[in-house]
Amino acid sequence: MRRSDTRIAILTLSGFIAIVFFGWVVGPRTPVEVDQVGYRGVAMEQLAFADDKAALLAANVAPEPVYDRDTEDTTKASEIYENVQVLGDLSDANFTRLMAQITEWVSPEQGCAYCHNDDGNFASDDNYAKIVSRRMIQMTQHINSQWQDHVGAVGVTCYTCHRGNPVPENIWFTDLSTTRTGPALGWRDGQNAPGIGSMSLPTDPLTRFLLEDHPIRVQTNRALPDGVNTQTIKSTEWTYSLMNHMSESLGVNCTFCHNSRDFAVWAESPPQRAVAWHGIRLSRDLNRQFLEPLQPVYPAHRLGAEGDAPKASCATCHNGLNKPLMGVSMLETFPELQAPGAN
Ligand code: HEC
Ligand code: HEC
Ligand code: HEC
Ligand code: HEC
Repeated sequence: MRRSDTRIAILTLSGFIAIVFFGWVVGPRTPVEVDQVGYRGVAMEQLAFADDKAALLAANVAPEPVYDRDTEDTTKASEIYENVQVLGDLSDANFTRLMAQITEWVSPEQGCAYCHNDDGNFASDDNYAKIVSRRMIQMTQHINSQWQDHVGAVGVTCYTCHRGNPVPENIWFTDLSTTRTGPALGWRDGQNAPGIGSMSLPTDPLTRFLLEDHPIRVQTNRALPDGVNTQTIKSTEWTYSLMNHMSESLGVNCTFCHNSRDFAVWAESPPQRAVAWHGIRLSRDLNRQFLEPLQPVYPAHRLGAEGDAPKASCATCHNGLNKPLMGVSMLETFPELQAPGAN
């Protein structure tokens, strides 16, 4: 073999190893799935890594009920127990069944004692978790009966948010620490700090939009700032930050709800945008009517840095999917959570 032949052989071999290394080991982990959801040529598509998607779907399966529903017992819970303020209409059997089920949904490791004290006095309201839970039952009934514009007939149960944890994985607190002016920094407003999507956008759009009702707009129909036009550059940044929160919470791209040709115009947006519009109002309603008012009930270690109560966002229910638990409803087997007094 001539020397140049050896060199060519070595080069060919190292080229081959490099291709294998970069193409297979370092390269894309899994194929990217592309779903076209609108007119061609305007990037109306959803992108997902096939492997990530499979793992996400596997983690979002609605569980089967622990016990079947009873249809024979006619004794009402209110006749037997001392302190049932919300579930009194249930039969004793179905009341006990629901207690067993919420234990599975919310505190499977801690058991009944997470909400009831160890002394066996189930009627006592000494445990804050029981008081919070009573309000949670009412909140769940409220979502399912008043917010069908968003949750449809699918609705939610404790499991939609809790997934076997007393504290749901996705909660949020008001974060003012990064909005305060630092020496010579001006008003940073949480920018350039790791937050939603690790972007340089403001980290806390949720207080403005899912608690307060600041308008969600990037442009105004008035020429000058004049008291009516509140659309500053800051509100534009908050808006983009919220949009990124929504995309992340649902595991979708912007074009799931917008036509990239014109983000603002409703007539060209996919129908999911209207569902999302209701989702924003729903989240606001839950935070204002149910979650914030529970503030005095919580022990201090459950509160945020500003002393505020834990709150819900799109991610609390959606957990990374466009339809929580893949759109599977648990309400048929738990009609008591459908509406106040439903049984
Ligand atoms: C996640 C919180 C939570 C868990 C876990 C829980 N409960 Fe309850 N329990 C409640 C709430 C809230 C009430 C009051 C319901 C109402 O006011 O209508 C209640 C009421 C009761 C009552 C009625 C007591 C009375 O006399 O007023 C009994 C009995 C009871 N639970 C049994 C159980 C048992 C048994 C378990 C475990 C299998 C359990 N609970 C787990 C939240 C919980
Ligand atoms: C829309 C989402 C959502 C639903 C549905 C929901 N919860 Fe919650 N829950 C929350 C949020 C948010 C918190 C506040 C988290 C915290 O306590 O730190 C919370 C807190 C709680 C806590 C207090 C945990 C602690 O130690 O601080 C209990 C107990 C609880 N929920 C029980 C229930 C029960 C029982 C149901 C069903 C009847 C239910 N939740 C339905 C969102 C939800
Ligand atoms: C889950 C649906 C959904 C997703 C995903 C989404 N948006 Fe939105 N977007 C909305 C809704 C709903 C509104 C109107 C909110 C309102 O008026 O209350 C809106 C408003 C906007 C506006 C303001 C338009 C105006 O009138 O000024 C812009 C800009 C925007 N979105 C951009 C984006 C971008 C960029 C992304 C991706 C990072 C995105 N959106 C992802 C639903 C969505
Ligand atoms: C209380 C729980 C809950 C909260 C909070 C919530 N959603 Fe939903 N959302 C649902 C449920 C349940 C469905 C499925 C409804 C159905 O299948 O009819 C849904 C459906 C949707 C859909 C339609 C998906 C599709 O594939 O058609 C969009 C878009 C959406 N939500 C956006 C949002 C946004 C954005 C937020 C936050 C601003 C939000 N949701 C907050 C429970 C929630």
